[in-house]
Amino acid sequence: MCGIVGYVGPREATEVLIEGLRRLEYRGYDSAGVAVMNGTGVQVRKAVGRLSALEKVLSSNGIHGGVGIGHTRWATHGVPNEVNSHPHVSYDGKVSIIHNGIIENYRELKRELAEQGVKFKSDTDTEVVAHLLAKAFDGGLLTTLSKVVKRLRGAYALAVCHSDQPDRIVATRMGSPLVIGIGEGENFIASDVPAVLKYTRQIVFLEEGCLAQVTRDGVELFDADLKPLSFTPTTTSLTLDAAEKEGYEHFMLKEIHEQPHALAETIRGRIDGDHVDLSELELDAESLKGVKRIAILACGTSLYSGMVGKYLLERFTRIPTETWSASEFRYADPVIDPGMLVIAVSQSGETADTLEALRIVKEGGARTIAICNVMGSSIPRMVDATLYTRAGPEIGVASTKAYTTQLAGFVLLAVGIGRMVDKTDEATEKTIVEGLRQMPGQVKALLDEDIVAVKRCAKRYKDVFNFMYIGRHFNYPTAMEGALKLKEISYIHAEGYAGGEMKHGPLALVEGTFPTIAIAPAGRTREKLISNVQEIKARKGVVVMLSTHGDEEARELADYLIEIPACEEELSPILAVIPLQLLAYYTATQLGRDVDKPRNLAKSVTVE
Ligand code: G6P
Repeated sequence: MCGIVGYVGPREATEVLIEGLRRLEYRGYDSAGVAVMNGTGVQVRKAVGRLSALEKVLSSNGIHGGVGIGHTRWATHGVPNEVNSHPHVSYDGKVSIIHNGIIENYRELKRELAEQGVKFKSDTDTEVVAHLLAKAFDGGLLTTLSKVVKRLRGAYALAVCHSDQPDRIVATRMGSPLVIGIGEGENFIASDVPAVLKYTRQIVFLEEGCLAQVTRDGVELFDADLKPLSFTPTTTSLTLDAAEKEGYEHFMLKEIHEQPHALAETIRGRIDGDHVDLSELELDAESLKGVKRIAILACGTSLYSGMVGKYLLERFTRIPTETWSASEFRYADPVIDPGMLVIAVSQSGETADTLEALRIVKEGGARTIAICNVMGSSIPRMVDATLYTRAGPEIGVASTKAYTTQLAGFVLLAVGIGRMVDKTDEATEKTIVEGLRQMPGQVKALLDEDIVAVKRCAKRYKDVFNFMYIGRHFNYPTAMEGALKLKEISYIHAEGYAGGEMKHGPLALVEGTFPTIAIAPAGRTREKLISNVQEIKARKGVVVMLSTHGDEEARELADYLIEIPACEEELSPILAVIPLQLLAYYTATQLGRDVDKPRNLAKSVTVE
């Protein structure tokens, strides 16, 4: 997820671009760059880090001109450094391009261009598009772009300039957003409305696969075959403040709603027909067959995804797996040997305890994989291979979309490795792949449904002091994560427990007003959990049941019923956590808490 912006008009382009990029920094901020056309060819400035670094570069080495494009990056291919930052310029110095998305077939295009003698500067997927455009340039940027995009697979919003046509920006999109701002004597393009709000409220949302040609005097739209399209701009009612959150009151709620897209991104290119495709990790089947045990290391919410990961890896690979809180692992005098595979899980890739535990296992000679969201962060740089979760920047301190995409990452790893070590058969792989493919849609359906029971519970129980969450097997960690979400942002004490352990202690807490959330979707342990619920009900406890649609027994038992769509039990933690995220969110907002920045916590804990 990156942010792109473009400007054509009488103002200094860099000023408009910087203002736009500031509004898009929520889409990524590991580097930024601008390219400006002023009749003397294309001038580019880039800087690693926050936008302020680019502003500093521009203040000492400015560029003047009224046509330009700008980019704020959230790396997907190639670490965040200056060379990998956008805009990218073609080998002949004439094309400059910015891109949001992933060009999935960039490797084959790169090979083809390299055979024709093109020298690549960066590790990005985007650079191939700049060179393809230069090769194919036919005197018209629009016609050239329409030809080149037919060769691209993946997701993209692209904006392009050419020094032979310095009065225009040409843009297109497929699977990534692009809006056009219509001004008076000036026009804009951007990933998102906030980037242009300071200048205009007249917006056109570019349709999938269409192209736009933007000059100072006007905007023209075309379909993929360059047939002109008519359009009427809409007047946005968005205010600048609300815009970064896209109308959501908090980043957390926005990120909860981004989960269908985030999951689709995580799965993209990693399932092929009925199979899991982990070729990007370059894992070696023979060496995996030599793995004697797996250790998962993580902290916080990532630790709970690691707990689900243990169950998944053991089910599909039959390799004994343990999950460790990274801070515990470090001081537990752990046994490390070369037969060990370590999986470090981290949204940020910077958590100090996880990094330190990883250092220890590397010294011991273990093989290492990371599941991580932030490209080029410290943890991916340390490991042998990384499965990036591609959830986009997560800003709310309470992790939501990072968690569900980590779960999807574990499903992919477990089934992929399971196949490589011959412990998962084709039929099982097919079933899970099919289920995984349905996940984004099922999460969306769950979010679209106004979960009334969740809001009612939040209202009813916002003033209690304690909450119990119970689950079993795959959803025992869901209980832990649900409880963590509630305590993090509402400050209500909550405990996640294995359902079968209730009778060994916590049952003593149960009385008329004590709420328990029982996570009991269809699966092998459902019946057992229902028995645990019976034990609570027999002691007059209040029970919120989270069960699969159509579970009549759960309906009868529940004081409040939350239903999720039917799915394979291995995938149920992805669906089950969604209502629990919402429950925590609505409880916290009822209590007037600072949801995105809860007291005493930090998004990334870089101290031990
Ligand atoms: C902090 C955050 C949590 C996160 C944990 C681990 O405590 O508030 O949301 O789960 O760190 O962070 P990581 O980036 O390693 O996943």
